[in-house]
Amino acid sequence: MWIASFAWLCLVTGYSQRKHRARHIPLMLTGIFLDIGLVLFLQITRSAIQTALEFSLSVPAQIHILFSSIALVLYVPILILGAKLVEHKGGPNTKSRHIKIATTALFFRTLGFLFMFSMWKN
Ligand code: HEM
Repeated sequence: MWIASFAWLCLVTGYSQRKHRARHIPLMLTGIFLDIGLVLFLQITRSAIQTALEFSLSVPAQIHILFSSIALVLYVPILILGAKLVEHKGGPNTKSRHIKIATTALFFRTLGFLFMFSMWKN
């Protein structure tokens, strides 16, 4: 929970710094790779993907998984488009596509983050 919260905080802070490349890029990369690392860790330690595919969890937990998975899938084009922007190799639509996909990912990541608290155990 703490790592996922920290990753989300990096993404939100990085979004607020979107006009400042020197802060935007490291914050977004930290958030994205923490999220990817977390899924790999949960997969290795708890077979998270199999558990998710059994659909045995509560509805809010399944919504959390669905929204977080959408964000994870979108990280791939975000990274590709972000790298093109960094290298100035993109076309005229690269920036607008980056903005659209990245904002959608952050929206789903935020909803997934909120639904994560339905899985909170004392
Ligand atoms: C979920 C993650 C991300 C979100 C929500 C996001 C969002 C945005 C937004 C909204 C802008 C437009 C700023 C403006 O109004 O001018 C932007 C610009 C930019 N982003 Fe991202 N971004 C994300 C990840 C990344 C990553 C991973 C990279 C690099 C690998 C990156 C590289 C850039 C660059 C270089 C710009 C500046 C483009 C320019 O002004 O020419 N972004 N981002």
